[in-house]
Amino acid sequence: MQKNRTAPAASPRALGRSLSRFSACLLAAWSIAWADEPRGAAPAGAAAAAHADPWWKHAVIYEIYPRSFQDSNGDGIGDLNGIAQRLDYLEALGVDAIWIAPMYPSPQVDFGYDISDYQNVDPQYGTLADFDRLLKQARAHHIRVLLDMVLNHTSDRHPWFVEAASSRTASRHDFYVWDDGKRGAGAKPLPPNNWVSLFGGSAWQYVPAVDQFYYHKFYRQQPDLNWRNPKVEQAMFGAMRFWLDRGVTGFRLDAITTLFEDPQLRDEPALGGTNAQGDPNLKNTYTDNLPEVHDVIRRMRAMIDSYSGGRLLVGETYVPNTSDLDPWYGGAKRDELQLPMDTLVGLGNKLDAALFRQRLMEAETELHGSQPLLVFDNHDNIRSWDRFGDGGHNDRIARIVAALLLTSHGAALIYQGEEIGQRTVTPTRVEDVQDPIGKTGWPKDKGRDGERTPMQWDISNAQAGFSTSAHTWLPVPPDYRTVNVRTESADPESLLNWHKRLIALRRSNAALRNGRTVMLDQPNASVLTYARVAPGGETIVVSLNMSGKEQSVSLGARAAGLAGTRCRTLLSSPAGLEGRGIGERIPLPPFGAWVAAVE
Ligand code: NOJ
Repeated sequence: MQKNRTAPAASPRALGRSLSRFSACLLAAWSIAWADEPRGAAPAGAAAAAHADPWWKHAVIYEIYPRSFQDSNGDGIGDLNGIAQRLDYLEALGVDAIWIAPMYPSPQVDFGYDISDYQNVDPQYGTLADFDRLLKQARAHHIRVLLDMVLNHTSDRHPWFVEAASSRTASRHDFYVWDDGKRGAGAKPLPPNNWVSLFGGSAWQYVPAVDQFYYHKFYRQQPDLNWRNPKVEQAMFGAMRFWLDRGVTGFRLDAITTLFEDPQLRDEPALGGTNAQGDPNLKNTYTDNLPEVHDVIRRMRAMIDSYSGGRLLVGETYVPNTSDLDPWYGGAKRDELQLPMDTLVGLGNKLDAALFRQRLMEAETELHGSQPLLVFDNHDNIRSWDRFGDGGHNDRIARIVAALLLTSHGAALIYQGEEIGQRTVTPTRVEDVQDPIGKTGWPKDKGRDGERTPMQWDISNAQAGFSTSAHTWLPVPPDYRTVNVRTESADPESLLNWHKRLIALRRSNAALRNGRTVMLDQPNASVLTYARVAPGGETIVVSLNMSGKEQSVSLGARAAGLAGTRCRTLLSSPAGLEGRGIGERIPLPPFGAWVAAVE
């Protein structure tokens, strides 16, 4: 997890429990049928050829943070039946798959990312039967389901850890990363090295019962698994199979870059200064991106591929450069993750045409032709509305972000609420904070509550239709009266309908699905303009004015080898931007966005 907070206010049961042979066969047959079912009417021509691609290449994946999506039982917390109630909405929006953040049994220290049983559903969110029903209903809505798989660590309340921490000779002791620490004569043992937790403090926790420290990259309640122990891989792959056998399409792999640590436990090099939690800034040479992880991923990919139906691995891959994403695909072999997340394009703070141009081109040239997955928003980062917004043109800027996400080459990820322009609503009092890092880091780091507030559905009650309880786990922002799904559905010019139109266009248009990307008007520092050119020649031009001033664009279409004479507007923000001859200069209002077909 990388926290982008520089913007303004901004069971061991896994092994034992398995499906009966009979039900496993039924579910396998069911998932095969699902696998090859096309969504909607098949497009003609080149678009039909593109349909031969695996479904995920052009997918729109929608992240659901289940606690905040829809509460069906009035306890103020979202749940699985709530998600099922909103499938009509998701289908109408046009999403191909939902990624559900962890809904497994958990003490909820990290709101589900601390799992105590990998093969069940937390009672807060429902039951396994609810989950199976949701899968079935999602299928009926042509929506695939991806689960969040947390492989780096478990909860400290997971029976594996409880056993591991009870004695050095416990059979599962070696499921976790232990060290004796530094010992002086008679002194209290000290952590073995300078590693710090991403969530604050030393990454080592002493356990008197075993007189050792365990390593935790995240909260103390999230001990890291020891992936050098083959039994860990066996157990975790078993947990993944449990869900694959039930019919889930795949997983978003949490914190996947941090699976391994340096066996010599060398100190991380210091970078100078301290972070928001008051810890020294360190390089992550020995705790992140260790090469051993790729062997695990290759075996995992082979396991996934042994299932029919286009199963998918998405990775939480925060890396410093686009080229660093390539190994996560398996380089030229492409035998690792199908879609490591490219957060480099989206998680910045500055609407910078030159930077976006460079990053998009890197994704074209540095990934061995693999498919990018662009990400702007998620449950860990200040929403793009607030990161890129200038305070005066946020709605137009949100349309630019959506256009970039949905017209550039690759799969796209939308985080719940992004499509209606939900804001980051950060707590103003420490006593209201739910996210533990917001409590320990206050006021420098106010935590992630701001981007996790409930989904704003309608104005039917003071909870925006999210819940019938007056006490929702996080407060519903007051702007729900105007920023909500129902109101925006009724307004043809709303941000929600802008997203819907972009998704529909991307689905039906061969150039947007599979066309190569040609950058146009490259010296322009204010406007990002590119063409997507289908193999058959069909061309779409996208021009995004990332400045607060009117700009004019010279497409240079002839020099770029584009055929055609006129650009016909397909979508524009503000509405009504006219089409132009291909050689004419194109005027674009401040923060204007224009999508046109070349004819
Ligand atoms: C990344 C998840 O997105 C974040 O919410 C979580 O706290 C960490 N991984 C630890 O699991």
